[in-house]
Amino acid sequence: MVSILSIGKATQDVFLRDEEFNPHTRGKVAYEELPLGAKIDIAEAFFSSGGNATNVAVTFARQGLNSRYLWALGHDPASNAVMNDLDHENVDTSLVALHDGLRASYSTVLLAPSGERTILNFTGKTPEISDVERLLEKAPSADWVYPTAVGSFETLEVILNWATDHGARVMLNPGGSELADPAKLKSILPEVDVLCLNKEEMQTLVEGENIEELVRHGLNICPVVIVSDGPNGVCASDGKTIISAGMYEDVPVLDRTGAGDAFASGFLSQWSQGKSLRESVVFASANSTSVVTKIGAKAGILSEGVALHDMPLEEKDI
Ligand SMILES: Nc1ncnc2c1ncn2[C@@H]1O[C@H](COP(=O)(O)OP(=O)(O)OP(=O)(O)O)[C@@H](O)[C@H]1O
Ligand SMILES: [Mg+2]
Repeated sequence: MVSILSIGKATQDVFLRDEEFNPHTRGKVAYEELPLGAKIDIAEAFFSSGGNATNVAVTFARQGLNSRYLWALGHDPASNAVMNDLDHENVDTSLVALHDGLRASYSTVLLAPSGERTILNFTGKTPEISDVERLLEKAPSADWVYPTAVGSFETLEVILNWATDHGARVMLNPGGSELADPAKLKSILPEVDVLCLNKEEMQTLVEGENIEELVRHGLNICPVVIVSDGPNGVCASDGKTIISAGMYEDVPVLDRTGAGDAFASGFLSQWSQGKSLRESVVFASANSTSVVTKIGAKAGILSEGVALHDMPLEEKDI
């Protein structure tokens, strides 16, 4: 069975949805305003764990793969909620250390009826690079490693070295801290087997007006490159063929949290099992489309064996 080790930050997300949340524009900026001192009854409160690495670990587990999560968390309610979710989803959490003083992130997401959202985020207290090093020393090898939002660039380098030493292949869909310095990010890409980014992120790394140009330029650095552009579709190539795909389904978007994670992990869940580029792109698209129709980053993640349909997709030799 294919094994995938996911590494990176975890959060607890609380989604509050109500008609009262009503963003309005002043100048060029849209605001959400709440009256000071008021107690506002909310129509719906939805709790979900998040954090890119825990989201992707759940896709891998629901697709029947050996999915392991490595990170250090605390004894705070947000860390407990993340651990409960992952255990419930059959993600192997034996490589999660629990340290006093560490805290998972905590986000309150105010969802307006329009689908727009305002997020109040507490970053938490994330592990030091030495904590991650100690955990990796204990980690059995894996077929693939998927680091994302690991806190610092140096931590990412430690993980990539571990992957090289253990013969694990790497998929990278970088999170916030890894995207902060494009030159540094570019320098480590030769160690990455599958790179997945959205259009704006890819434009910080290579030249290209459209996603196909970006993918073609990305192939000079990485063997498999995928560039997504939200509802406008996606382009992917393994250096042999290149696929341009549209939307899997034109769905009403309830909450787009986790769309990128569902796409990238959906791709790897199939690619790692030897499925074709086309099959991997179709499943990635179906997984991400399902996620945006549900509140939270994990609720819509597809389970093994779900029936897929065709989608607008063109594949040509490179
Ligand atoms: N409005 C939508 N309707 C249908 N599918 C969508 C929509 N938005 C995103 N998706 C799906 O999610 C995939 C990834 O979305 P996107 O390109 O926005 O990634 P991202 O910017 O990395 O997202 P994130 O902010 O989660 O990191 C798309 O390729 C598409 O399959
Ligand atoms: Mg993304």
